[in-house]
Amino acid sequence: MTKIVNELTKEIKDEIANDNLVIFPTETVYGIGANALSENAVNKIFEVKTRAKNNPLIVHLKDKKEISKYAYISNSIEQKLIDAFMPGPFTIILKKKSIIPNVVTANMDSVGIRIPIDEMAHNFLSLVDVPIAAPSANISGKPSGTKVLDIKDEFDGLVNIIIDHGESTIGLESTVVKVIDGTPTILRPGFITKEDIIALIGSCNIAPGVLEKLSNNEKVESPGMLYRHYAPKTNCILVYNENLPTLKEIIKRNMIDKTIIIGSNKLKDISCYKFINYGETLPEISHNIFSLLRLADTYQGNLIIIEGVKKEGLGLAIMNRLIRTSSFNYIDK
Ligand code: TXA
Ligand code: MG
Repeated sequence: MTKIVNELTKEIKDEIANDNLVIFPTETVYGIGANALSENAVNKIFEVKTRAKNNPLIVHLKDKKEISKYAYISNSIEQKLIDAFMPGPFTIILKKKSIIPNVVTANMDSVGIRIPIDEMAHNFLSLVDVPIAAPSANISGKPSGTKVLDIKDEFDGLVNIIIDHGESTIGLESTVVKVIDGTPTILRPGFITKEDIIALIGSCNIAPGVLEKLSNNEKVESPGMLYRHYAPKTNCILVYNENLPTLKEIIKRNMIDKTIIIGSNKLKDISCYKFINYGETLPEISHNIFSLLRLADTYQGNLIIIEGVKKEGLGLAIMNRLIRTSSFNYIDK
């Protein structure tokens, strides 16, 4: 039986010391963590999540002073990004030091480093006092866990302890950035946006694959982009159009028997099997979306139609996830 706790105890430190997994909160999504320095512990993450071995994990540290133990900061742009966005919902890909086992980084010579700003996450990392390798807490392919109720059954018996700290504030995973040839490149968009990075550095690229499907022979900077992801069991279609009558027309044209609509209140007058409001602002949508996708599955409809957003600011991260949720089934006209 998995134990759900809401305070940090010696038992949690022992779990990590014994190479076991602990689910812990962060400001982005819940993580399923293990001692990053133990190959044995990290292997358990891949087993429990049924995660592909070629998809590297992010290493979580308690503060910035720790970074140089595990990775090289190679230039002033990396340093500036670290100074500006860490701790926070930001992961930087750095050249790895050999102390990090290859299983963590899927044999790549780089490692993703993240320092969560959530207080419980910080205290957890301080308590266990080892770097924690952690992917999002969900079985591979499913929407990431943003509250314990959504994931506890998925991991029941597979993980001994879950630290409950309410709903993740942001609700989408961190922005993953790698400096490539002197330019910050977003491998996975998140709460820290392209616009934020441009304001700081003056330039920022978006890696191929953020919004479009990668072909198998394309050079992949972030293996995570290759997989079916963030998906409920029910089939999904993503729709977007700035013109409301056109948007409604697209939705009606694609509806079938028992269609669930997830969107903003401007769509609530469309008659359908279930309407789920995901909020009206980008932060609300980001906070709610993964949990609502899981909720939608419980209604046992035949189709979920999700309203898209403009691909700007936080909207880029939302669309990056929803395009995968809907297996690239995206209709905008
Ligand atoms: O907010 C987050 O980032 C959450 C919380 C728990 O910290 N973690 C998370 O981990 O989303 P995960 O494993 O679900 O996603 C990590 C992403 C994957 O797309 C992976 O391919 C990419 O980061 N990644 C990790 N290490 C990398 C590396 N060395 N080079 C390129 N991409 C990397
Ligand atoms: Mg994930």
